[in-house]
Amino acid sequence: MAPIPLELGDHLQANGQSRLIDHLHRLSDESREALLSQLAAVDWSSLSRVLADSNTAVPLGQLAPPQSIVRLPQTPEESANWQSATAAGEALLASGKVAAMLVAGGQGTRLGFPHPKGMYNIGPVSGFSLFAGFARQILRLEEKYATRIPYCIMTSDVTHAETQAFFETHNYFGLDPSRVHFFQQGVFPSIDANTNELLLSGPTELANSPNGHGGMLAAFQKSGLLAKLQSAGIEQLYYHQVDNPGAIVCNPSFLGWHLKHGSSISTKVVAKVNAAERMGVLAAIDGKTQVVEYSDLPPEAAAQTNPDGSLRLWAGSTAMHVMSLKFLSAYLASAGALPFHRAFKAVPYYDLQHQQVVKPTSPNAFKFERFIFDLLPAAEVALVVEADRAEEFYPVKNATGSDSPATSQAAIIARAKCWLTTAGITTPESQPVEIDPRAATSAIDLTHRIEAGELTTTPAAMLVLHTPLEVNGPALITMKSS
Ligand code: UTP
Repeated sequence: MAPIPLELGDHLQANGQSRLIDHLHRLSDESREALLSQLAAVDWSSLSRVLADSNTAVPLGQLAPPQSIVRLPQTPEESANWQSATAAGEALLASGKVAAMLVAGGQGTRLGFPHPKGMYNIGPVSGFSLFAGFARQILRLEEKYATRIPYCIMTSDVTHAETQAFFETHNYFGLDPSRVHFFQQGVFPSIDANTNELLLSGPTELANSPNGHGGMLAAFQKSGLLAKLQSAGIEQLYYHQVDNPGAIVCNPSFLGWHLKHGSSISTKVVAKVNAAERMGVLAAIDGKTQVVEYSDLPPEAAAQTNPDGSLRLWAGSTAMHVMSLKFLSAYLASAGALPFHRAFKAVPYYDLQHQQVVKPTSPNAFKFERFIFDLLPAAEVALVVEADRAEEFYPVKNATGSDSPATSQAAIIARAKCWLTTAGITTPESQPVEIDPRAATSAIDLTHRIEAGELTTTPAAMLVLHTPLEVNGPALITMKSS
């Protein structure tokens, strides 16, 4: 019988897992090997820490609006400042010092789509997947700024194989595969909320789940990608999440503001619709800017208003950031790892006593996740930049209702119409229209391309891009005939 390695046995004992030890002894050699290898991969020091720490409340201190903040322009002078930020961001892109990062390791349980969320066909007219839309934005930027933008895609054991295969099947959507870097985040076990015991999902499997979008930091380092990008001269990372098709990847204005303020990590925000809106807010706590999750924000703090009636804590996080690689390396060298947060969830588990899988209908266990925004308080300068919600933020979280494919697609169409109107093209109100990100990534980009004759309207009411770089699909702005 293969013994339990000494050190692992100590970890199990020290962390109150004696029933699991008994279970290991009852297993066949082969099954025990399988479970032991998973247990050996557990991050025991983090696990001991989360088991010892039953405090779930985030110490909030005195909440104030964030300190370094750039609001949308209201005056000609502010518009000129934004233009200068945009120019700085464009120069940075052209210099080849920017990489993009997509985190796509989440389980997407709320959407209920049985594949990685990025494979969801969100394009209301084209049927483009989320992945296609982002990749084609990068193509456009590489072409426009005659530059190279490495695209780092974080997956998890839940999403990795399908995501990689999807990119391969679609020829990386025209991107150069040598600049698309997949890397996998870690997992963390779920814990029985009553007994603190590690849960199994089957007789020989731990009930692991991806360790949160903040798992990016450790995985980025462990994969070697951080060092690789740094030695290739990359200085800034544009981070975005897979569920927002409105994300304007590598948005030059945001990059430019980040640079101008010498920021370590910048966050794009939109004004909350109302006090009760369920989104994390940017706030300064004891002088440090950070994100306070909606579940942690006391309702009375959320409801506070300024004398003009506007919300005091108005800045809702879009989960888009620019981070300097220098800052990420320094954080890893000093703090090491981001903290874990616990969430009380219904987690199916293998009942050791009755030797069967139980699917609870109410929360029974804690899952643990790291959040990328916990980097903010460590930054000397953490800049907050406002964006227009209609332009950049319409996430797909739920299958129906708010933040669903239906609301997101309506927003995609509305933005396309808005850009076309800016470019002098009107469309019948009832006609759905979509702009392929490969054609243009902003209203100004679109206008210039139409003026330059790079996009033309066909009799079938389609705008077609004329470019030798085009790889997948001909019509770049498509309108369904009504
Ligand atoms: P969410 O917090 O919305 O989680 O992720 P989710 O897993 O996608 O969806 P639900 O909560 O199960 O319905 C926000 C972003 O963070 C990524 C997701 O892929 C998404 O881009 N994420 C989340 C990871 O990359 N890894 C994780 O462990 C969790």
